[in-house]
Amino acid sequence: MINSFKRAGTTALAVVFVALALLPAPEAFAEKTGEYTAKFKKDGQMIRPAGWREWVFVGSPVTPNSLNAGAAPFPEFHSVYIDPQSWAHWKKTGKFREGTMFAKELTSVGATKATSGKGFFNGELIGFEISHKDSKRYSKESGGWAYYTFGHHVEPYKDTAAAMPDAACAACHTAAAADDMVFTQYYPILRVSKNAGRKGAGLGGR
Ligand code: HEC
Repeated sequence: MINSFKRAGTTALAVVFVALALLPAPEAFAEKTGEYTAKFKKDGQMIRPAGWREWVFVGSPVTPNSLNAGAAPFPEFHSVYIDPQSWAHWKKTGKFREGTMFAKELTSVGATKATSGKGFFNGELIGFEISHKDSKRYSKESGGWAYYTFGHHVEPYKDTAAAMPDAACAACHTAAAADDMVFTQYYPILRVSKNAGRKGAGLGGR
């Protein structure tokens, strides 16, 4: 009897230890969630966020040279991601929360044929930009968004970047983007998920 109590006690302790070992350390947690909040240097430059390739992917428009008389300003695929917290908020409310970040990474057009046929296939990663919504920080910028470019070249990208002037970036977004300066007309994933959380839809397809 006593022995079986002892055994049960030891087993329970072992379970607790294993559970504790599996939990991430608190600082690892902070680091992880911190990735989803824009960080700035004292001089106002944005620090390039980490881990954007693990954010939620929303679309990949491509503007190849072959469709732009050989001279597209950005002849690449534009892979667009939204940070996970803002994705959750969008699903629930249909709005881009204060703090929303979009990452746009450029990928060159590589091969134009594969075993599946002729087409446009991803080449190399060659550029990185961020858009960030913060109505207080950008009270002077149009619509409360600012735009940052961390380089149009292969990695390493710049570690920090200053907000671009409105005329260089925001103007185009104000003029032509469908929803709060974001080009949701090119991101079906954002369109079908808008408010989907309210209706209880899952993350996957419907
Ligand atoms: C000529 C118009 C135009 C200008 C100028 C422009 N953009 Fe965009 N941007 C677009 C379009 C169209 C999209 C939709 C996705 C795509 O094609 O890349 C987009 C999408 C984006 C996205 C993804 C989120 C969103 O809002 O849809 C980011 C980030 C972005 N642009 C950053 C920038 C930055 C940084 C600059 C300035 C250096 C800039 N853009 C200037 C047209 C423009």
